[in-house]
Amino acid sequence: MSIKVYVPRDTTTLSLGGNHIAAAIVAEAESRGEDIQLIRNGSRGVFWLEPMVEVETDQGRVAYGPVEARDVTGLFDTGFLTGSESHKLSLGKPEELPYLKKQQRLTFARAGIIDPVSIDDYKALDGFKGLARSLQLTGQEIVDAVKVSGLRGRGGAAFPTGIKWQTVHDCPPDQKYIVCNADEGDSGTFADRMVMEADPFMLIEGMTIAGLAVGATQGYIYLRSEYPVAFDILKEAIANAYAAGYLGDDLLGCGKKFDLEVRLGAAAYICGEETSLLESLEGKRGLVRFKPPLPAIEGLFGKPTIVNNVLSLAAVPYIMAEGGQAYANYGMGRSRGTLPFQLAGNVQQGGLIELAFGPTLRQLIDDFGGGTASGRPMKAIQVGGPLGAYLPESQWDTPLDYEAFAAIEAVLGHGGIVIFDDTVDMTEQARFSMEFCIEESCGKCTPCRIGSTRGVEVIDKIRSGVNVGANLTLLEDLCDTMIHGSLCAMGGMTPFPVQSAFKHFPEDIDNAIANSTSAEVH
Ligand SMILES: Cc1cc2nc3c(=O)[nH]c(=O)nc-3n(C[C@H](O)[C@H](O)[C@H](O)COP(=O)(O)O)c2cc1C
Ligand code: SF4
Repeated sequence: MSIKVYVPRDTTTLSLGGNHIAAAIVAEAESRGEDIQLIRNGSRGVFWLEPMVEVETDQGRVAYGPVEARDVTGLFDTGFLTGSESHKLSLGKPEELPYLKKQQRLTFARAGIIDPVSIDDYKALDGFKGLARSLQLTGQEIVDAVKVSGLRGRGGAAFPTGIKWQTVHDCPPDQKYIVCNADEGDSGTFADRMVMEADPFMLIEGMTIAGLAVGATQGYIYLRSEYPVAFDILKEAIANAYAAGYLGDDLLGCGKKFDLEVRLGAAAYICGEETSLLESLEGKRGLVRFKPPLPAIEGLFGKPTIVNNVLSLAAVPYIMAEGGQAYANYGMGRSRGTLPFQLAGNVQQGGLIELAFGPTLRQLIDDFGGGTASGRPMKAIQVGGPLGAYLPESQWDTPLDYEAFAAIEAVLGHGGIVIFDDTVDMTEQARFSMEFCIEESCGKCTPCRIGSTRGVEVIDKIRSGVNVGANLTLLEDLCDTMIHGSLCAMGGMTPFPVQSAFKHFPEDIDNAIANSTSAEVH
C-alpha cells in the first residue's frame, strides 16, 4: 500500500519552496522504487517549522521540518518513510508539538490534517455535521443557536453575530445575500487565509448555514487578489461541493438552494470595511457608504445582506454541530469561544495559535513566541492590525478579551499580534500609522483624508524638534478630530497607534530629536 506523504500547499509553505520539496520527494521515491501517495495538505500554522513534511506510519503521522529540497535525499536515507526519528529535522508526532498541544483548536481542528479539497477527508473529521443538523431546523432555530454561542464578529468590531443574523432573518422575504469578508488586510494576520487554504469546506459550510438561517440563496466570498493560492483552493473546493450536492439548487436533496462564488478585490485596505466592500462587489470604487441603512437591511444591491468575516462564518459549523453552549463554554466575560491569535513581526516562533479568550498577552508570547527573532529584548507589541494600539510592557498582562482591551484603549481586532524589539523608534511607527491612513483612506471625509496628511507633517516637526510642546498639543487635537469626526473606523482609529506610541514611549521623542539633523527649537 502507498505511504502517504504530506507537503502543505499553503502560501507560506509555497513561498519557502514547498513545490520544489514535493517534486523532490516524488522524484526520490521513484528512483528508489518506493510507493508513495503525495498529499498536498494545508498548514497547521506552525509557520516557523514550515515547510513541515509529514508521513503516515503505523504509529500515526510523524513530522519533519523545516525541510529544504536539499534535505530530501537525507530524509529518505535515514528512513523517514517509516517515521524514523534519526534525522535532525525529525519533530515526532505533530500533535505532540508543544506549540500545537497547548492550543484549544475548534475552528482550526482540521487545519493541516486534511487534504483541503477532499470532501471525504472533511467528512471524516465531522465536516458537514453542522449543515446536516441545520437542515433539520428552522431559520430562527439556527439564529438562536448562534446567539447562544455568544459568537462576536471576528473581523474587528466584535458585533454579536446572532443579532446581525436576526436582523437579516427578520427582513421580509426577498433576495438576500451572504457576503464573506475575506479581504484580510491587517498587518500580521493570516488566519482567514489559513481557513481558506487549509479547510475551505468549513467556510463553505458556514456560509451555507448562514443562507439557511436567513433565507439567502446567494453567497459571495470577497477575496483580496494578493491571495492567489487561496483563490485556487477555494474554486476547487466550491466545484467539489457543487459536484457532491453541498451547494446548488437542491442542498443534499432537501429542496433548498444556495449558490456560492468567489470574487477578487484589488486589495485596498479600505475595501475590508463592509460598506466599501459592498460597493466594490457591485463593481464600483471602494468608497465607504453612510450608515444607516445597515448592510443587514440594505446591503448588496440594496438587499438585506449578512457581511461576516471568514473566522466568524468558519466558527458556525462547530456551533451547529456541537451546539451553541459548547462554543460558549470557552472564553471569558462577553468574549465567548476561541480566537485564532496570529503571532508575527520580530518573533522566533511565528504562527497561528487558537485559544479560548482569556490568557494574557505575556502568557501567549511566553508560551508560544520563543522570544524575538533578533534575540533582543521586546519593546512594543501592536495588537489588532494597523489601527491597533502599541502596547508597552506594563500592559502585557491584560487578558486577551474584548472588554479588557477596550479598558486600556486597545483593540483585539482580528487577533493579529506584531512584535517589535528595542531597536524600534516609536515616533517612526506613529508616523507610519498616519502615512498608512494617507495611502489607504477612501477620501470621502475630511478628518481622515486631510487629517492624516497634516498628521504626518506634525509628527515630522515633533521628530525634528520643532516647537515640540505646541506640536504635541496640535497632534492631540488632530487625533481628537479624527476620532470624533471620521465617517468610518479607518480615520476614527488611526489615532490609536499614534497616541499610544507617544503616550507609552515618550523617551523616543528625545531620541528622534537627538538623531534628527534638522532640529530647530527644542
Ligand atoms: C478600514 C477597515 C478595514 C476593515 N477590514 C476588514 C477585513 O479585512 N476583514 C474583515 O472581516 N473585516 C474588516 N473590517 C470590519 C468590517 O467592516 C466588518 O465589521 C466585518 O466584516 C463584519 O464581519 P464580522 O461581524 O464577522 O466581524 C474593516 C473595517 C474597517 C473600518
Ligand atoms: S474615515 Fe477615511 S476611509 Fe473612512 S470614510 Fe472617511 S475618508 Fe473614507
